[in-house]
Amino acid sequence: MGPLTLAFDVYGTLIDTHGVMTTLENLVGTKAAAFSQTWRDKQLEYSFRRGLMQHYESFAVCTSDALDYTCAVLKASLDKDQKSELLALYRVLPAFQDVAGGLTRLKAENHRIFAFSNGSAEAVETLLKNAGIRDFFDGVVSAEDLKSFKPNPAVYCHFLRKSGAAGNEAWLISGNPFDVIGAISAGMKGAWIKRSEEAVFDPWGVPPTITADNLLDLADKLAFNG
Ligand code: LAC
Repeated sequence: MGPLTLAFDVYGTLIDTHGVMTTLENLVGTKAAAFSQTWRDKQLEYSFRRGLMQHYESFAVCTSDALDYTCAVLKASLDKDQKSELLALYRVLPAFQDVAGGLTRLKAENHRIFAFSNGSAEAVETLLKNAGIRDFFDGVVSAEDLKSFKPNPAVYCHFLRKSGAAGNEAWLISGNPFDVIGAISAGMKGAWIKRSEEAVFDPWGVPPTITADNLLDLADKLAFNG
């Protein structure tokens, strides 16, 4: 197998968006799990809607607006400082624990490794550096360059242009089914990282090229499927 170009989604794939749970438990108690899930779901919904409306604001604005929505819908009265604390934590969320080991294996196999995110390049650089994994990456590509968001097909084409890869040799690696389907629909291969037994892939008739439990399992499977 020759070297592949691997585009890693960031939030929910490399970086655990539920890494704010301990702080949330202190702030909103038993509502923490629902808070974390609603915040993440609304953040994505806001990015999709802004993409469709062609009314761009950064992913950080989608995150902040989604935080306000979540406080309102769950009747969690967080003050300005508490919201700022949560948004600051979001900039230094942890990596999933399989990430460094998996990237070490993939790098040893000479694959080209990119971070490819709806988040801004600056936010992604900060996350990767803080998680101690920046050196694994050949580059960071952000949807921000197009003032749009995945799964707009133009964003995946932008990745291919920036990385200089052909679609059939480039893989999108994501824990987010919408992203895997978006990449395959735009001509890339798509690997779904299914870290939880309960995770469900959208039943659109567009299955992932491969499904892996984590990045170590991904390294094994790419060695056979690449
Ligand atoms: C990203 C979001 C979609 O990093 O998870 O692109």
